[in-house]
Amino acid sequence: MKIIAYGIREDELPYVKEWENDNQIKIETVPDLLDEKTVQLAANHDAIVAYQQKDYTPELIKKIRDLNIKYLSIRNTGVDNVDGDAVNQYGLIVTNVPSYSPSAVAELSIAKLLELFRKTPQFNRKMKNNDFTWEPDISKEIRTQTIGVIGTGRIGQTAIKIFKAFGAKVIGYDIYQNPTLKEEGIYVDTLEELYAKSTVITIHSPATEDNYHLLDDEAFNKMQDGVHILNMARGTLIDTDALIRALDSGKVAGAALDTLENETDYFNRKLKESQVNGTFKNLLQRENVLITPHTAFYTEPAVRNMVIDALNASKDLIETGHSDKEVKFK
Ligand code: COI
Repeated sequence: MKIIAYGIREDELPYVKEWENDNQIKIETVPDLLDEKTVQLAANHDAIVAYQQKDYTPELIKKIRDLNIKYLSIRNTGVDNVDGDAVNQYGLIVTNVPSYSPSAVAELSIAKLLELFRKTPQFNRKMKNNDFTWEPDISKEIRTQTIGVIGTGRIGQTAIKIFKAFGAKVIGYDIYQNPTLKEEGIYVDTLEELYAKSTVITIHSPATEDNYHLLDDEAFNKMQDGVHILNMARGTLIDTDALIRALDSGKVAGAALDTLENETDYFNRKLKESQVNGTFKNLLQRENVLITPHTAFYTEPAVRNMVIDALNASKDLIETGHSDKEVKFK
């Protein structure tokens, strides 16, 4: 059985070794990300393991199939970078890791909201200048807030539990309603209702064609003045220019963004100052906007599960042609 794993980082290697020992199968690991050029490294392998950072284009998918490889196991959840039509056209079988650690993502939302509320950047700045005063950086408390959760899958559900533990009122919106949450009366019927009632909005939806720029000018206008926005999901869910307008007008009092439109130009790279520009620079310069470079997934338990589950899926595919982690593209 020959599996090649792309984009393997130092922090993933111990988990690859663990899996190799448990399964007595050697994995070829390469640091390169999977793309149209590096795909050649997969020649003579039975399956590819990779993770999302670049687009998996029709050209790449064709090249994978031209190498006679049928199986691609991605070790993350989102499949919005995968061209589903090409997957179906060329007969590639793709698996993902649907739930490596909902806590990893949910906890970052809460951590960032606390930083926004407690004015951490403001106090850090003041302290650096020997300014140990309090005013004007008074905080809100989570228990006084109405948290609107968009997307109540595994991550949304975990966020709901944590926000409730802080004593917040939580409301949710999803096109697929979870029966337990429904019984608890969490759901509002429309996004408009969620926008109108929430003092904090946190997004935990996958990116689809239907929710591109879900939060746009129109959506921001329907929100309360001074709302806080948390996006640990996908950059395309927020129209960045509209968010900047809403920050400028004060409609949005603060935002924490772990994902951004066009984030692959910036995230998980070391850049020169001259390469940081445009809306990205605009957002980075604001004390009431906290940006993290798509780190919500980046915890020890999550990374271990991503590696182990993806390798297990890959092995299942090679041995049986099937995996319970198979992704169906419409
Ligand atoms: C995902 O699992 O979908 C993520 O956003 C993690 C990232 C490494 C692509």
